[in-house]
Amino acid sequence: MRTPSLVVNLKTYRKGSKEKAVKLAKKCEKIANKTGKNIVLAVQNTDIFRLSKKVSLPIYAQHVDSERFGSNTGKDIPETLKYNGASGTLINHSEDQVTIEKIEKTVKRCRELSITSLVCVDSVEMAKKVDTFNPDFIAYEPPELIGGNISVSEAKPEVLKEVIEAVDTPVLTGAGVKTDKDVKKALEIGSKGVLVASGVVKADKQDEAVENLLKNL
Ligand code: G3P
Repeated sequence: MRTPSLVVNLKTYRKGSKEKAVKLAKKCEKIANKTGKNIVLAVQNTDIFRLSKKVSLPIYAQHVDSERFGSNTGKDIPETLKYNGASGTLINHSEDQVTIEKIEKTVKRCRELSITSLVCVDSVEMAKKVDTFNPDFIAYEPPELIGGNISVSEAKPEVLKEVIEAVDTPVLTGAGVKTDKDVKKALEIGSKGVLVASGVVKADKQDEAVENLLKNL
């Protein structure tokens, strides 16, 4: 992932699903082309193929499993996600948590396949553990701020700073990021970008929301 970056997580929001996911992806692509700024889309795994064919932006999975080819059922293995167009993946989002062992395994599997790993953490302790696995990125997201209007850089600047100082891995900031000021603050503290969902996907004017977030990126 080129940084600084705006990572938009479409989650399973209605406005980030089906044909609306395509529309949003196209809006983001247009803005990225116009501004030259970096936008990454983390989409539902079932949308990876379609969206990677429709837009040139990096498409990330929202989840990947660590299994290999073989007798496994209901797993999204990294090989298949990559084949279908994912260049990276979220791991351990707070809405999709996995064990620490699983995080380590998954990061390793992503590295083998040159898939960018972006591991979400909710504390300094967790960030320190994950850092030893050498992921490409860590995203610090306090779960209680997700979906709200108070950004992590405003509510917990000291914890964000602590996370950034405690690890060698580049850190992204997420949860409650809604404005250009939130982004500015996150970058000033040392973030390499922001991970955003509701501020873009649920916005009445999604393109304006993206443009606004990119102002200080
Ligand atoms: O993955 C990003 C997400 O959890 C943050 O959500 O809605 O607070 O931007 P939101």
